[in-house]
Amino acid sequence: MQRILQISDTHLGREPGPIRAGYPDSDRQLARVLEALARNEDRPGLLWLTGDLAEDPAPAAYARLLHLLDQHVKGWPVAGLAGNHDDWHTLHRAFDAAGYPLDGHRILGGWLLIGVNSAVAGQAAGRIEPAELDRLDQVLTTHPDHWGLIAIHHPVVPIGSAWMDRIGLSNPDDLFAVLDRHPRVRACLFGHIHQDFRGKRQGIELLGCPSTCIQFAPESERFALDTEAAGYRVLDLHPDGRIDTRIQRVSEEART
Ligand SMILES: [Fe+2]
Repeated sequence: MQRILQISDTHLGREPGPIRAGYPDSDRQLARVLEALARNEDRPGLLWLTGDLAEDPAPAAYARLLHLLDQHVKGWPVAGLAGNHDDWHTLHRAFDAAGYPLDGHRILGGWLLIGVNSAVAGQAAGRIEPAELDRLDQVLTTHPDHWGLIAIHHPVVPIGSAWMDRIGLSNPDDLFAVLDRHPRVRACLFGHIHQDFRGKRQGIELLGCPSTCIQFAPESERFALDTEAAGYRVLDLHPDGRIDTRIQRVSEEART
């Protein structure tokens, strides 16, 4: 069994502190979630950061992210994705220097994990470009005997919040056309929605993740915040293709 952990939407500002009036301090929130990870979890097969790592893509924000990872979960394998708030190139430079891959793929036991880029410069909604779809198809074709787990920043299905569903993935049919050719793909993880979500499409689990910073209220017509605590997702990948997963909330009381 392989355990992997997902955190998402850390939204670190150019400077430490709240990115908006009434928000908590993004750096402090991320530190609290990483403290909880270090306290509650053994070193995972992967800690996957599924995008919107910075609110504004400043090198200083990514430097603080890397510093916090180093401080709390040093030595853990980390991989990332860019979200709509990130700049892919700036994030890639920072991660590359730290030895952390962005997008890409890796084998973990009988599982194939693939990060798929959906960030489009200057827009909130996501899109997977043809070259990225080709890469996904190629990697899945090269590893036909592995169970597949995909991570992508944008939600691949509507989640029932009208405002959010307008800024989801704009070409999900292109993605599903690829996934439909590869029946061993078991799940697709995403961020962007700042809330727990669980859906299913033809045998593929669709799993959203809370933000480490601020939560969005489910089933909202318009932008609305939730009072839920920050959290992370735990996934146990079994050799027979089964996945056990849960959200772990990190409440204020857990502060150390
Ligand atoms: Fe976000």
